[in-house]
Amino acid sequence: ALQPDTPVWLFGYGSLIYKVDFPYLECRPARIHGWARRFWQGSHDHRGTPDKPGRVVTLIESPQAECVGMAYRITPDVFDHLDVREKNGYLRFTTALHFNDGDQADGLVYIATADNAAFLGPAPYPAMARQIADSRGPSGHNRDYLLQLAEALRKLGAHDEHVFTLEQMLLDP
Ligand code: BEZ
Repeated sequence: ALQPDTPVWLFGYGSLIYKVDFPYLECRPARIHGWARRFWQGSHDHRGTPDKPGRVVTLIESPQAECVGMAYRITPDVFDHLDVREKNGYLRFTTALHFNDGDQADGLVYIATADNAAFLGPAPYPAMARQIADSRGPSGHNRDYLLQLAEALRKLGAHDEHVFTLEQMLLDP
């Protein structure tokens, strides 16, 4: 369990990179090793509907990969209000965060695992791009989620072939 008074690092690799609606003490670009960002999680409650689920990112274990994101130092009470829910098959784990200056720290990460009901897994790129282009939900258009994430990753200087391939296909179908 988290110590109520001890700040922790939360690593964001999806919407948390560009949509920050929680208080934090500090934020720093960071990366984690051994995980790849993939649009493999279905979204029927945020960027899609039960009839027409969208696609959002989760992390897949991948030994050679690294994932660039943003780390936020937060007080544990922030978790009570955060939209990263542990329900719906989201799992929280601790892993090493690597900062650009070489510093390291432990950070918490939320992922949607393959055993959750909304998990979609891989599909051919054109099919994933079409699904993202055609989906929308209570949180907005799925395409805006992809475009905002891609833009945020460019600002971080990340080389994310998966995300940039989907962005390219969405903009130039
Ligand atoms: C993230 O951006 O890291 C994230 C957002 C929602 C759920 C899980 C993770």
